Amino acid sequence: MATLKEKLMTPVAAASAVPSSKITVVGVGQVGMACAVSILGKGLCDELALVDVLEDKLKGEMMDLQHGSLFLQTHKIVADKDYAVTANSKIVVVTAGVRQQEGESRLNLVQRNVGVFKGIIPQIVKYSPNCTILVVSNPVDILTYVTWKLSGLPKHRVIGSGCNLDTFAYCYPVIQGNRVQFLENIFILICGTAITYFCNS
Ligand SMILES: NC(=O)c1ccc[n+]([C@@H]2O[C@H](COP(=O)([O-])OP(=O)(O)OC[C@H]3O[C@@H](n4cnc5c(N)ncnc54)[C@H](O)[C@@H]3O)[C@@H](O)[C@H]2O)c1
Repeated sequence: MATLKEKLMTPVAAASAVPSSKITVVGVGQVGMACAVSILGKGLCDELALVDVLEDKLKGEMMDLQHGSLFLQTHKIVADKDYAVTANSKIVVVTAGVRQQEGESRLNLVQRNVGVFKGIIPQIVKYSPNCTILVVSNPVDILTYVTWKLSGLPKHRVIGSGCNLDTFAYCYPVIQGNRVQFLENIFILICGTAITYFCNS
């Protein structure tokens, strides 16, 4: 017997079982949530999935985004520590990792974060074999290479955020008060990982 909803609503097209532009963010710390909010603000995906090992935090962040999604183009926001929730992602942004401790160089993070990535990357590829992975976690250049090796994906489908942030941090004091001339005449690009604190000197 038809329900009231079925009587009132006539489907005009079958619902798509597979999302067409799903994005996953792994790690819902400060950087992961900044990525998630930016992705939603620009309406880049039809489904957003979040993964983290901290279940309570994950649920809280998911609920905040879901409530805000009333005003956004992306209405399906899901989260779980099980990577099945990421299935069929087009892009996976990896921001998970252990934090840099005070006085610790980015390079010291390598071993700890390689261990974390060994748990994450095979799961991503298992559920989204056709995805592109964008690595943000530090040390980003090294972890991008590690991701490429662990994933088995072709190299054009593993991208690191590189030294864009370092570049912008370097550029900002240079361009202050001289923005137009900077944009027209000067190009600066910081290359190489573990370049930090130079702006303070
Ligand atoms: N590339 C860049 O330009 C850039 C800029 C800023 C920060 N970062 C890096 O991004 C990373 C995240 O920074 P943050 O400030 O958000 O840190 P954060 O500590 O706030 O968040 C990290 C998150 O990763 C989660 N996590 C840890 N292990 C995990 C695992 N095995 N699986 C899933 N999630 C896991 C943690 O629970 C936490 O929620 C750091 O490595 C940081 O150095 C990169």
